[in-house]
Amino acid sequence: MTVAILGTGNMGAGIARLLASKGIKVAIGSRDPAKAAKLAEEIGAGAQGGGVAAAAKLADVVILAVNYPVVAETIREAGGLSGKVLVDISNPITPDYKALTVGHTTSAAEEIQKLAPEAKVVKAFNTIFAQLLPAEAREGRAVQVFVAGDDEAAKKVVSDIVAKGGFEPVESGPLSNARYLEPVGEINIHFGFFLGWGTSAAPAWIKA
Ligand SMILES: NC(=O)c1ccc[n+]([C@@H]2O[C@H](COP(=O)([O-])OP(=O)(O)OC[C@H]3O[C@@H](n4cnc5c(N)ncnc54)[C@H](OP(=O)(O)O)[C@@H]3O)[C@@H](O)[C@H]2O)c1
Repeated sequence: MTVAILGTGNMGAGIARLLASKGIKVAIGSRDPAKAAKLAEEIGAGAQGGGVAAAAKLADVVILAVNYPVVAETIREAGGLSGKVLVDISNPITPDYKALTVGHTTSAAEEIQKLAPEAKVVKAFNTIFAQLLPAEAREGRAVQVFVAGDDEAAKKVVSDIVAKGGFEPVESGPLSNARYLEPVGEINIHFGFFLGWGTSAAPAWIKA
């Protein structure tokens, strides 16, 4: 299985590094193919890098690691996502990071599903700061990743990737539950950036 990661920013590079370190084949896609190729070379472990469409074409699972305002253009550029698992990690936040721009009756994940109707969209990783992606940053602690989606098989594939990355996947129901996961991402941003916790903050759901 090859996982494509579209975007070479904090999350894209972090997820690519983590998955490659766990033996998953990764293909990094960027608006600037040379940038993705350079990152892939730096990561090693057979990682490939190039344009957005080229990376998506190689993969069964495509992780959208771009900011929410540019998901539509990135999905257009990726093309041919039919039948693929499309992972939405976004928090659709305002420029000051303090609020969500989408919610209550829809979510970024559901809007992405509308943009790529033939892909199987799964929400994951939106409550994890990029700084917590390296395994060393978690020091063996089981940090939860909430996984929501309408296609059970796609959700299983993503949960397995999450587990390989050393996180604890938490089955979070249908894609429409992204309406509630995205606010959790937003409160985590408040804890991390505005309430002094820093970027090692992450939510943990407990069964007391
Ligand atoms: N940072 C976090 O801790 C965190 C945590 C949870 C969720 N998220 C979510 O993860 C996603 C990515 O966040 P990030 O922090 O990785 O963002 P980032 O560092 O700003 O990277 C975003 C990447 O998107 C790509 N991109 C494509 N079109 C673009 C455009 N027109 N303008 C700017 N960038 C464009 C760029 O990669 P190329 O130049 O290679 O195309 C850029 O590096 C967001 O949806 C965010 O809400 C972030």
